Amino acid sequence: MQNLIEQSADIIGNSELTLALTGAGVSVESGIPDFRSAQGLWSKYDPAEYAAIDAFKARPEMVWEMLREMDDLISDAKPNKAHLGMGELERMGCLHWIVTQNVDNLHQRGGSKNVIEYHGNSSTLSCLCCGKGYRSEDRRNQYPPRCDCGRILKPDVVFFGEAIPQDALSRSFQLASAAQALLVAGTSAVVSPANSIPAIAKRNGARIIEINMERTHLTDTVTDVFLQGSAGTIISDLVDAVKRKTAELSI
Ligand code: OAD
Repeated sequence: MQNLIEQSADIIGNSELTLALTGAGVSVESGIPDFRSAQGLWSKYDPAEYAAIDAFKARPEMVWEMLREMDDLISDAKPNKAHLGMGELERMGCLHWIVTQNVDNLHQRGGSKNVIEYHGNSSTLSCLCCGKGYRSEDRRNQYPPRCDCGRILKPDVVFFGEAIPQDALSRSFQLASAAQALLVAGTSAVVSPANSIPAIAKRNGARIIEINMERTHLTDTVTDVFLQGSAGTIISDLVDAVKRKTAELSI
């Protein structure tokens, strides 16, 4: 494993534009379950019934049962070693952008500034009827949270059947085409269009480093270096290795 970490640190050290694509796995060590693992959210809730925009419009009270569970976990969560390590890599000038499918704000709280959110952010809520917006924390005393107009509010996250924010889409595809290295961490990479980023990057010559507890469909197709294990441990080992390389170069 140490050899693979060193190899990854070389790739990052030699890259002028490094991008990361992250998913729910990077927040598991912060106490937020992922979606598709055995204990994941979709083992308990059917995404067709709980994560589709039509389901939210038809049965918002029911969908809020799941949203409330998520919101309780997210509001208690703190950035873990994966978020903090990626924030440190950005400060060192070794990670330029993160494209995340997560809605938990933990990359930003972990110190990353250049974060592109594919699926929105659960820290705010909007009314689908009058458009008024609220901070989630200001509505936690109400369940389900309601707008002043009386309608049940929706978190500003992307449900299945809704479009990915256009600026996130175009910026991320542009970056994927130009990146020399891509770190894919904690994602099964099965949800479109985020899952096209590794192939775009690979086609344009980027080296792909994948960090995951388990192999994915990327591992034997586009991945150059597969680092198997928990994102927190691996990313902090990677940060140490990049620091050593940077120190060696400056001697
Ligand atoms: P998934 O649940 O599909 O994948 C999480 C991945 O993280 C899996 O491959 C796990 O093996 C891995 N994993 C779990 N714990 C880990 C850890 N501690 N360290 C490293 N890897 C770990 O979640 P996403 O790929 O993020 O969208 O799912 C993408 C989208 O599907 C979500 O944004 C959400 C969901 O439906 C919407 O709801 C629109």
